[in-house]
Amino acid sequence: MTPSQADAKKRRAAEAALAQIPAGSVLGVGTGSTVRFLIEALAAHPGRVRAAVSSSNATTALLDAAAIPVLDLNDVADLPLYIDGADQASRARHLIKGGGGALTREKIIAAAAARFICIIDESKLADALGTFPLPIEVIPMARALIARRLQARGARPVWRQGFVTDNGNDILDVHGLSIPDAPALECELACLAGVVTVGLFARRPADLLLVGTDQGVMTI
Ligand code: 5RP
Repeated sequence: MTPSQADAKKRRAAEAALAQIPAGSVLGVGTGSTVRFLIEALAAHPGRVRAAVSSSNATTALLDAAAIPVLDLNDVADLPLYIDGADQASRARHLIKGGGGALTREKIIAAAAARFICIIDESKLADALGTFPLPIEVIPMARALIARRLQARGARPVWRQGFVTDNGNDILDVHGLSIPDAPALECELACLAGVVTVGLFARRPADLLLVGTDQGVMTI
């Protein structure tokens, strides 16, 4: 699949999500290239959302450019919908996220939202999660400790060098994990001291997957 074919599928999924947004509501907005198409679609429909809660500095910049007001989550009592992409998704709607490094704020907004729609192109749909390395955001002083703990369970953590999250933390991309039970692994890894956020979104999965394909959009 060429980049432009993938982009066409991402755009299809993003545009399909537009119809799911309650008119005039506050929308939770994720991060990444698929979400960029969503923001473009929102910009083409002024007033479709009243405001947004943003999951990253990068998304805030795009929302600002689209003249969509950005609210602090602390000031929003009712968030009917969150829309975001993913790096990998299973048919159980469990996700791996954090390829763009925004996983912590993404997980907070997903938890706050009544409904979570995930928009992906079909290459992200997998029978089993784990072929995409699992991003884990960690407190910098705990990076080596957590890496050793992960190595001890047979995984291969790789420090995303030169990258600092919006929260000032590091990312470990964890290769070679077998994920037979995503909610259990999410809990287990979240308990390691120094872990901020695990990029598994299984305890709060997506409610709906919109999958862009050559033919159209598949819903799961
Ligand atoms: C960012 C994410 C993104 O949703 C994920 O990386 C997918 O990005 P893209 O839409 O560019 O493929 O989790 O932290």
